[in-house]
Amino acid sequence: MRLICPIPTCRQPLAKRERTFVCANNHTYDVARSGYINLLQPQDRRSKNPGDTRDAIAARRRFLDAGHAEPLVRAIVEALPLSSDDALLDVGCGEGHHLAAFKRAYGVDAQGVDISAIAIDLAARRHRDCTWIVANADRFIPYEDHAFRAVTSITARLNPPEFRRVLAPGGTLLVAIAGADDLVELRGMERDRVERTIEMFASHFELVRHFNVRHVAHLDADAVRDVMSSSYRRGHENAEAMDVTLSRDVLLFRK
Ligand SMILES: C[S@@+](CC[C@H](N)C(=O)[O-])C[C@H]1O[C@@H](n2cnc3c(N)ncnc32)[C@H](O)[C@@H]1O
Ligand SMILES: [Zn+2]
Repeated sequence: MRLICPIPTCRQPLAKRERTFVCANNHTYDVARSGYINLLQPQDRRSKNPGDTRDAIAARRRFLDAGHAEPLVRAIVEALPLSSDDALLDVGCGEGHHLAAFKRAYGVDAQGVDISAIAIDLAARRHRDCTWIVANADRFIPYEDHAFRAVTSITARLNPPEFRRVLAPGGTLLVAIAGADDLVELRGMERDRVERTIEMFASHFELVRHFNVRHVAHLDADAVRDVMSSSYRRGHENAEAMDVTLSRDVLLFRK
C-alpha cells in the first residue's frame, strides 16, 4: 500500500525511514507517537484543528462505544464482504469505529483518513492494527492509483473522482448517508438525500445496490446529548431521555 506525497507539484511515493515518511524530493512527514501519519498541508487547514471539534469527536466515540448504533454498524459491515487479502480505505473515518469493525470482521488491510488529528490520534491509540492518516480528502487522497478493493464513506466526505482513482478496477464504493428519518425526533422533519447523492456519483460509478437500515434507540439524557453534539446539533442543555430513530441509506457503487 503506497502512500503518496500530498504536495501538488510532487506526488512521489513515500517511503518509511525510521519515524518519518519521505519522498524522492525529500519532503518528510512525521509518524506521531500514537502511530498515525500527518500528511496535512498548511493550505489544507483553515483552522488550527480542522475537521470535527474535540467535543463532537468525544461525543461520537461515547455514543458508538455505548452500542446505540450497533445495528447500523453491523448492517454496513455485512453489506461489504471482504477478504484478508483486500485493502479497504475509510474516508472521513473519525475516531475509527467503523474501520475497526471491518478489520475485526474480515482481517483486511485497513487504512483510515480524516482531516482531524484529534480524531485520528484517538483512532491510532485504540486500533494499532489499522493505518491512520491525517489528510484533506476533499483535495487529494494520499494513496497511489488503484490501491484499494473497497472505499467507504460513512456519513463523511464525498469526493467521486478521488474515490474512483484510488479504487482498483471492479472495486466497490460504499457510501452511507443519514436516512430521511435519521434523528427525526430531534429534527422535527425528514430530509431525503438519496437522489442527490446518486446524482453526484453518476458520472463516475454504477449504482449496484441501495438499502435503508434503521433502528430506534432508547437513549438516556446523556446519550441524547451525545448524539446531538456528534451530529452538530444545538440545544443539548435541555436533553431528556427519549426514543430516537437512527437511520442510514447505504449505497453500493461499482467502478
Ligand atoms: C460525521 S463525522 C463521521 C465520522 C465516521 N465516519 C463515523 O461514522 O463515525 C465526519 C468526519 O469527516 C471528517 N472530515 C471533515 N472534513 C474532512 C476532509 N476534508 N477530509 C477528511 N475528513 C474530513 C471530520 O473530521 C469527521 O471525523
Ligand atoms: Zn514530495
